[in-house]
Amino acid sequence: MLKNQPIIDITIRSYTDSDMKDIADILTKIGWAPQYVEGQKRYINKLIHDEEGSVFVSEKEGRLAGFIQVQHYRWNCLSSVPGLVVSPDYQRRSIGGNLMTYIEKESQLQGNRGVFVDTPVNNQEARAFYKAQGYQEGYIMPRYYEDGLDGITFQKFFT
Ligand SMILES: CC(C)(COP(=O)(O)OP(=O)(O)OC[C@H]1O[C@@H](n2cnc3c(N)ncnc32)[C@H](O)[C@@H]1OP(=O)(O)O)[C@@H](O)C(=O)NCCC(=O)NCCS
Repeated sequence: MLKNQPIIDITIRSYTDSDMKDIADILTKIGWAPQYVEGQKRYINKLIHDEEGSVFVSEKEGRLAGFIQVQHYRWNCLSSVPGLVVSPDYQRRSIGGNLMTYIEKESQLQGNRGVFVDTPVNNQEARAFYKAQGYQEGYIMPRYYEDGLDGITFQKFFT
């Protein structure tokens, strides 16, 4: 695992149980539907006990500004990002980009081939963000989020 890394004035560190309240506050602020909020909390609690999983938080100005969840699959040597959220108070300040770079480095250190992540097709902000991080559109998964809401996968291979 990478050590805690200060990136300019952003610190990225491993999640601890006491972060859940701040994460819940961020999820409330972004206004996701309850099933997505619940899904994120459950996934965090699952990943921290999974030897292939990691959860990291980003701090800025002494406040929790965002978090990312990652699962480094050994079976196909790909890493998946089931959750990435930056507080609306801190968006467009490179926090999401730094969190993605951080888990990509961890993925490479583990010998994985690349990273994939999905988002609702109508999440134009996230689509623009993943493209800006160098991700390519993979496939559309019909009805992935809801019956009327498809998912789109983005992927980046290291070589
Ligand atoms: C998507 C998200 C994680 C981006 O985090 P962020 O910290 O704001 O992103 P960064 O500041 O690192 O942005 C890097 C680049 O991505 C692109 N980008 C980021 N947000 C964007 C937006 N809202 N619209 C268009 N492009 C965007 C830009 O090119 C940006 O560079 P710039 O600010 O120099 O123009 C954040 O907006 C978020 O948490 N959204 C709500 C939850 C969500 O959608 N999660 C991900 C998908 S499920």
